[in-house]
Amino acid sequence: MTNAPVKKVPIHLQSSQNRLLIKNGRIVNDDGIEEADVYIEDGIIKQVGRNLIIPGGTRTIDAAGKLVMPGGIDPHTHFELEMMGAKTADDFYKGTRAAVAGGTTTIIDFVLPEKGQSLLEAYANWREKADNKVCCDYGLHVGVTWWSPAVQKEMKQLVSEQYGVNSFKMFMAYRNTWMLDDYDLYCAIETCAELKALPQVHAENGHIIARNTEKLLAAGVTRPEGHQLSRDEEVESEAVNRACVIANQANSPLYIVHMMSKSAVRALQLARNKQKQPVYGETLAATVGTDGTHYRNSCFRHAAAHVLSPPLRPDPSTPQAMVEALADDHLQLIGSDNCTFHEKDKEIGKGNFSKIPNGVNGVEDRMTILWQKGVNTGIMDPCRFVAVTSSSAAKIFNLWPQKGRVAVNSDADIVVWDPRLEKTITAASHKQAVDFNIFEGQHVVGGPQYVIVNGRVCLDDGELRVVEGLGKFLKTPINSPYVYGEQNLSHGDHDLLEPLSRDSPDRVNGSSVPTGQWRARERESYFSVTLTSR
Ligand code: URP
Ligand code: ZN
Ligand code: ZN
Repeated sequence: MTNAPVKKVPIHLQSSQNRLLIKNGRIVNDDGIEEADVYIEDGIIKQVGRNLIIPGGTRTIDAAGKLVMPGGIDPHTHFELEMMGAKTADDFYKGTRAAVAGGTTTIIDFVLPEKGQSLLEAYANWREKADNKVCCDYGLHVGVTWWSPAVQKEMKQLVSEQYGVNSFKMFMAYRNTWMLDDYDLYCAIETCAELKALPQVHAENGHIIARNTEKLLAAGVTRPEGHQLSRDEEVESEAVNRACVIANQANSPLYIVHMMSKSAVRALQLARNKQKQPVYGETLAATVGTDGTHYRNSCFRHAAAHVLSPPLRPDPSTPQAMVEALADDHLQLIGSDNCTFHEKDKEIGKGNFSKIPNGVNGVEDRMTILWQKGVNTGIMDPCRFVAVTSSSAAKIFNLWPQKGRVAVNSDADIVVWDPRLEKTITAASHKQAVDFNIFEGQHVVGGPQYVIVNGRVCLDDGELRVVEGLGKFLKTPINSPYVYGEQNLSHGDHDLLEPLSRDSPDRVNGSSVPTGQWRARERESYFSVTLTSR
């Protein structure tokens, strides 16, 4: 025996937490529901089933009446981003802490180089900002904000095993900062396809926005409503169509970020029917949880807090149409585009709406908002909820089945979801750093009771116990089989079944569904109907 000092390990990092049993719950994956226990050791799911043989000293969580789902994957965040003269309120610690509080256990952030800056240098900056702060695992997309042979060369380097990037975002808006013209966009998309990476596009017509902004300001429209007026739905849908055409010419798959309008989804749907390669659409918690009527609020603080691009739409039927699009696979996933600015920063645009820093919250509330608007309303079932909040992102960004699935050998990133948990969303108690919440006052039923990150209980019966720096950087390999292979993301037929009554047998495992109508109603899809009747 040596007398070497014992390193003191904080209580929450001690080994009893390396073994965990989640008992009596219903496991929900994107392809089915099963009643089974989950045994976790050292951050990995080791056993799934009933009557498991478990070592002594294992902590047990009783999940009776609860759903055991893969932790959420938020494919779109901006932590510690400087844009439009301000820095986001949420850094990688507070942002990922808020993510975990809401049931999200992986985020994918965007490296956004300045025009002319090396992509590798910007990537290194992001790693430096994030690595020691993240409370959950994270990956990185990289923005292609300018074009040259040097940028192309760096894209090739970034997809290597050393850097682990498999997705690049190009902007069709932000004319004076990040926007690419169509020639450069074509080159960047073509390069992604050659590298078997995934091009992502911010689809809005930056030239139209610039001209409309000049005209609105000249006419004396300076308040936040000018933001929406300068970029209405067709400004978005035109760019969606253009991006799809360019991707089709380049024989490339495509991922359109933050789709905000019915017109844009319609344009995407047309492309998805004819495109040679897959096209994916992401919408946001903001889009399904609130709307663009807030831009007319007489309080600048309130209206400016809702400014993001593309903007929220004043058409009040938009949120439900977007939820239905998610349910019907017209859209494939939901992110947050969390990009939060304090009131003092939003005030940069007080006399000129075009200077309001763009971005809203969502990383904490994304899951509960969609559960409330999608599952509690009967529009989507829990399997589809898991698909659009977690599994589809894991598949598209090639993290499947390590992430996005409750199964043996997957990472133990798990949410124990209580469908009866109630709360009212408010900035006064949210975990995010920002001083405003666009979902303020909304009452939601259903939420995370326990959140397990890499096997560690980080939300413990509602109490947040995250560990700064616990998360690790996830390398996302190129050539995702769900993007470039034969497999596709179609979610089968589980979400368009006949409505189930409260006690109808569950088709998946023959037991009964305990809380209401979770099967999506058969309905006329807004997008399919509009497409065929025009
Ligand atoms: O308004 C937004 N979306 N802010 C973040 C930057 C971007 O375009 O994603
Ligand atoms: Zn964007
Ligand atoms: Zn964004």
